[in-house]
Amino acid sequence: MCQSVMLHGFVFLEENISFALMDLSELTLDREGLAAAIACEDAAFEAALCEEAYRVKVAAVGPEVYLRGLIEISNICTKNCLYCGIRRDIRCQRYELSEEEVLSAARLAASRRFGSVVIQGGERSDAAFIRKITRLLKAIKSIDTGDDPPLGITLSLGEQPREVYEEWFDAGAHRYLLRIESSNPDLYRRIHPEDHSYDRRLRALYDLKEIGYHAGTGAMIGTPFQTAQDMADDLLFYKKFDTPMVGMGPYNPHPETPLTLTGAPYPSAERRFALGLKMIALLRLLMPDINIAAATALEVLDPHGREKGILSGANVIMPNITPREQMVKYNLYDRKSLNASDVLDIAAKGIPIGYGLWGDSKHLAIEGK
Ligand code: 5AD
Ligand code: SF4
Repeated sequence: MCQSVMLHGFVFLEENISFALMDLSELTLDREGLAAAIACEDAAFEAALCEEAYRVKVAAVGPEVYLRGLIEISNICTKNCLYCGIRRDIRCQRYELSEEEVLSAARLAASRRFGSVVIQGGERSDAAFIRKITRLLKAIKSIDTGDDPPLGITLSLGEQPREVYEEWFDAGAHRYLLRIESSNPDLYRRIHPEDHSYDRRLRALYDLKEIGYHAGTGAMIGTPFQTAQDMADDLLFYKKFDTPMVGMGPYNPHPETPLTLTGAPYPSAERRFALGLKMIALLRLLMPDINIAAATALEVLDPHGREKGILSGANVIMPNITPREQMVKYNLYDRKSLNASDVLDIAAKGIPIGYGLWGDSKHLAIEGK
């Protein structure tokens, strides 16, 4: 039972809402109810919520977990987000995969029957990079997948001019992941430099949707300055944007970023992990038929983090298939505990894996978009 709302894990409620969550039946999915559930640190409540979310997932979209092979194409970025370990001004070894390296990773995904790949990287809008992505999309679409459909492709390459999104859509990408990072414009401003714009980011999300992409979004969970209401608002933002897919995960501090160096407090690793699972579970209750990824950031906090994400209502895993030598340089945060065993763990538990399938969001299928 939760009796206190000012919690030692630095998850604050803005107003002094008094509540006592006796059990799940008292949970409401409005702003106040979501914030109360987020601030509640009662382990029994959290476990019951995650179990309920798993049941809701199975009823709404089935038990299958879909795979997307994650290819981290480059850690070169023109942006300077205050929390990110590959921000423009950080000194680190930069890399960019060659076209052949990306294609051989995609062929690996096809041979393992992953069904889809995600191409993720720092934000760049130079012509050479844009054309390279266009060529790669066409080449990946022509990879022989045997009896399976061609590989589905998700891009996650930041904000781009609308024409670039259109060019990549026409070349074969059909899903795009662009996290809003925080749905609260004030918090967004606190964790980004002045020349980054919340409005531009929102515009980019609507551009993606209008072009016809399955536009996925998400935010970090447990950043400095973030309140339980902010997290509740993030969930309500996903609902309002009517997103078909969400990739959100715990904030993991990188030692050399301005946000870490300010010394601003943030929840403990244990709390950020619990919050990561709880946000998945609450989102599953709020939007039962969407795709929700069990983010890599969960795995950094717990060796079975992604598996626990699946058991809390997520249905997508992105096994990292970036060549190992480069993968270690994609240090958004400290990832030294990265392992790739979760897919095996999940299969061992008897959870079915949607091999060879795109696993598109049922949300869109139902709405006929
Ligand atoms: N902790 C957790 N997630 C981070 N990202 C960037 N830096 C961090 C961090 N320190 C996330 C951002 C971005 C995605 C590619 O990685 O949300 O959208
Ligand atoms: Fe670049 Fe993304 Fe990191 Fe921001 S979060 S600095 S856009 S890689």
